Amino acid sequence: MTASVTVRVPAKVNVQLAVGGLRPDGFHDLANVFLAVGLYDEVTVAPADELRVTCTGPDAGQVPLDHTNLAARAALALAGRHGRDGRGGGGGGVHIHIDKDIPVAGGMAGGSADGAGALLACDALWGTGASREELLEICAELGSDVPFSLVGGAALGRGRGELLTPLEVGGTFHWVFAVADGGLSTPAVYAECDRLRETSGAGAGVADVPDPQASAALLDALRTGDAAALAAAVSNDLQAAAVSLRPSLAATLAAGTEAGALAAMVSGSGPTTAFLVTDEAEAAKVADALRASGTCRAVRVTSGPAPGATVLRGSN
Ligand code: C5P
Repeated sequence: MTASVTVRVPAKVNVQLAVGGLRPDGFHDLANVFLAVGLYDEVTVAPADELRVTCTGPDAGQVPLDHTNLAARAALALAGRHGRDGRGGGGGGVHIHIDKDIPVAGGMAGGSADGAGALLACDALWGTGASREELLEICAELGSDVPFSLVGGAALGRGRGELLTPLEVGGTFHWVFAVADGGLSTPAVYAECDRLRETSGAGAGVADVPDPQASAALLDALRTGDAAALAAAVSNDLQAAAVSLRPSLAATLAAGTEAGALAAMVSGSGPTTAFLVTDEAEAAKVADALRASGTCRAVRVTSGPAPGATVLRGSN
């Protein structure tokens, strides 16, 4: 009998997040260039009498432990497709434990990581044998960022972000992340982006906003591993909206820029801010300056690309 399976899943930063107009279904078309970075959640699943989610880590108190957690939804989705109950009836339940190191509600896809991790872990625990395509399909049903958490590395996400094309990366990029107090709701940030577009008079619908396109210069910079070129090309269409909802982020961005970061940006929908630096020594310098600035709750240093969801341990 399999006792437990542990999967490690990375956080992400969006080096480009180009947001199209608001679609009739409430989503926005994106050109979303994801880079996985080396901050990880570990998701462990084990047989149990009922579906249960537990979480440890510095931000564990902010993680929902009910069935709205993407990890629980992933387990139920896989169980449903493979004739298991998943909750505890019939085929048995599952205990999902999340050891959380990715900032919560921070724009680094921590919830999505747990969804992808639980899916891969339950597939191994139950011996479901789901194909990669099926796992990716379930990920896309769970959320726009979940397929990338499974795949990792770097990828261009089209559609609402779920249609992935893997990207070649020619080097290691060094990053410093400043974690803000509290989270930001992703739907609220997209709605603020729409509101700002309406207020500017340009309109926020699909007919008003140009189709989002990946930047050729940015893809080149990733391919060649050129940090300075990447810094010149990064962009995030949600940044103005995140700063509008959380004006204090402007001071964090300024502190990192003053400390010598090559680029300073909001990570995804925020409020985590991301600073691209030349190397580890620069990362330490920028991290120290951000800590001293008093403009953020915590500072993390890491690099990317990082691998996608990976089974670390499984015991039979
Ligand atoms: O797909 P996910 O559940 O992560 O999306 C959360 C919310 O973010 C959506 O309900 C929508 O408001 C917004 N969103 C969007 N366009 C996208 C992705 C997300 O408007 N491409």
